[in-house]
Amino acid sequence: MKETLKICVATNNEHKMGELRNIFKGYNIELCSLKDLNIKADPEENGETYAENAFIKANEVAKFTSLPVLSDDSGIKIDAIGGLPGVHSHRFAEAFGGQEKTNNFLVKNYPNSKAHFTAHFVLLNLTPNSRNDFEGIMNGHIANSVYGNGGFGYDPIFVPEGYECTVASLSAEEKNKISHRYKASKAMLDYLIKEKYL
Ligand code: IMP
Repeated sequence: MKETLKICVATNNEHKMGELRNIFKGYNIELCSLKDLNIKADPEENGETYAENAFIKANEVAKFTSLPVLSDDSGIKIDAIGGLPGVHSHRFAEAFGGQEKTNNFLVKNYPNSKAHFTAHFVLLNLTPNSRNDFEGIMNGHIANSVYGNGGFGYDPIFVPEGYECTVASLSAEEKNKISHRYKASKAMLDYLIKEKYL
């Protein structure tokens, strides 16, 4: 039997970590968080794309571990505001006085606008000095009001294509079958299987 593939996930976001653990369950992979490995890293995400920010995070964490490092940079683009907040999704909500205020503002001003969640993964050091990128997108629109108790971030205001309720109203299992994070994970798993790591 093949050895379990151990991967360090370069995030301090417990929600992302939880979703990734659920999505990768059942595969011969062990995801280790920064907390598990006692790594303290919080690099400044000053890139202009999801790919740049994902690389900044993975590259910083790779200085502290010999394991392959996976980083997920994600966000939401809203068509009615020219694709904002996009790569600035986290900072945008902070600058706006918190996620709740931001979500209330967005549903009031941009209901029904098309919107897109993206997750960009950078996987470093699967082999020494290697870099692999994987991306997933979930299309949908902004809801008319804020509702649902699941998920995190912008989930209570995002209605995925083909659905009539927000992501936050779906169960965790349902979200993890359709989300941008699931799609990026699936691309990564397909690659790992093709290359016989799994
Ligand atoms: P970062 O990738 O740590 O820069 O932060 C991404 C930000 O985008 C998060 O803080 C959330 O606000 C938002 N975001 C990313 N993925 C999701 C998701 O699956 N649901 C809701 N919001 C998300």
